[in-house]
Amino acid sequence: MTMQDKLGWSGRFGEPVAELVQRYTASVDFDQRLALFDIRGSLAHAQMLTSCGILSAQDLSDIRRGMAQIENEILSGDFVWLIELEDVHLNIEKRLTALVGDAGKRLHTGRSRNDQVATDVRLYLRHAIDELRDLIKSLQTALVGLATHHTHTVMPGFTHLQVAQPVSFAHHLMAYFEMLKRDAERLADVRRRVNRLPLGAAALAGTSYPINREHAAELLGFDGVCENSLDAVSDRDFAIEFTAAAALIMTHLSRLSEELILWMNPRFGFIAIADRFCTGSSIMPQKKNPDVPELVRGKTGRINGNLVALLTLMKGQPLAYNKDNQEDKEPLFDTVDTLTGTLRICAEMMGGVTVKPEAMRSAVLQGYATATDLADYLVKKGLPFRDAHEAVALAVRYAEQRGCDLSDLALDELRQFSAGIADDIFGVLTPEGSLASRNHIGGTAPQQVEAAIARARKYLAG
Ligand code: ARG
Repeated sequence: MTMQDKLGWSGRFGEPVAELVQRYTASVDFDQRLALFDIRGSLAHAQMLTSCGILSAQDLSDIRRGMAQIENEILSGDFVWLIELEDVHLNIEKRLTALVGDAGKRLHTGRSRNDQVATDVRLYLRHAIDELRDLIKSLQTALVGLATHHTHTVMPGFTHLQVAQPVSFAHHLMAYFEMLKRDAERLADVRRRVNRLPLGAAALAGTSYPINREHAAELLGFDGVCENSLDAVSDRDFAIEFTAAAALIMTHLSRLSEELILWMNPRFGFIAIADRFCTGSSIMPQKKNPDVPELVRGKTGRINGNLVALLTLMKGQPLAYNKDNQEDKEPLFDTVDTLTGTLRICAEMMGGVTVKPEAMRSAVLQGYATATDLADYLVKKGLPFRDAHEAVALAVRYAEQRGCDLSDLALDELRQFSAGIADDIFGVLTPEGSLASRNHIGGTAPQQVEAAIARARKYLAG
């Protein structure tokens, strides 16, 4: 029996497909992970066909019985996947026919693999998105948990990676909470467009059977149907926008990782990451390397690559389905797998962070982080901001020459730079004073960050 006989299209072909071609075109090695979604889609299709009078009740019950067995075989690892049967769809259909006979052959009525595969990928992605949104929440929960203890922990806030102004460690962590919140929103938004049913589009033009697409959509939990059959079978924009959203999540995690790497460097010494997330060196006995955050940073490149792969896959395709689309799966699966693994390990790792508040505070004191506070103080005493800026710049230069912080200067010394300075300045020049003064929504004052944490907890509980 040739491959064409097995697949059921032998009539049209004068010679068997070359083995080389078979191997080149088959997708079963990677698309078998769609199997359970494929079965779900087929069961809904069969139920819809039956309720429309296209299949008999007996056919439906045979199909259900066969699919139940196939599902068991797949879950137990006993299912035999054959490369000659090209892909997940034909493997399952052939097995069904072997198990239940004619009902198996009738399943494909009013359907094509084109609308079938588009349905499977959407079901798979919807499921993946739901799991990813839970994982984002776990990471957010870890960030909020750590932040709760550090609303009064001062650290330098940086611009240009130079000490800029004091912030609290909690405030810094909560910046990532916000990024992840937008990331989850983006996934929810993508999900709305993923959650439309292509089935019924058949090969490209629809089908002549009296089907009820809305019914199938309802059975599969879709919000509605794709409203143009050509579009339904051919576009993979939903996979592309998912991957774009994934690339942004990875970008955020990569930034966080970069900071963890810096912070655990002894020159910073702001944190330690639990040993279980670090590795040693095979040659340098003293080393403790931040492999996990480095890999997060590195894997971000893969996801960016997957996004470009999918965009490139789509851009030259004429309507409607082309075999190019078979290439959507590996980048998509890899994106889901990489993102899943990364979110999971980041959540764990944040739970393994030890904070070193003294090191953070001393970095603030070495960087003249309260210079802006001194300038703002002078403005409040009536100096124009630009003049205040200049006076403080001179004061910083003076302190630098003496190798001390602004807060270490005596009142007389400070008054050389502006007569407006009085002894109420010392409350302003401490990192804690600086923090407390930024007391508006979005600011770093402990009171504000506590409120942000309370809002975050409410969001996470909702
Ligand atoms: N394995 C194919 C894919 O992933 C299924 C659809 C095949 N359709 C076709 N007309 N060859 O896209």
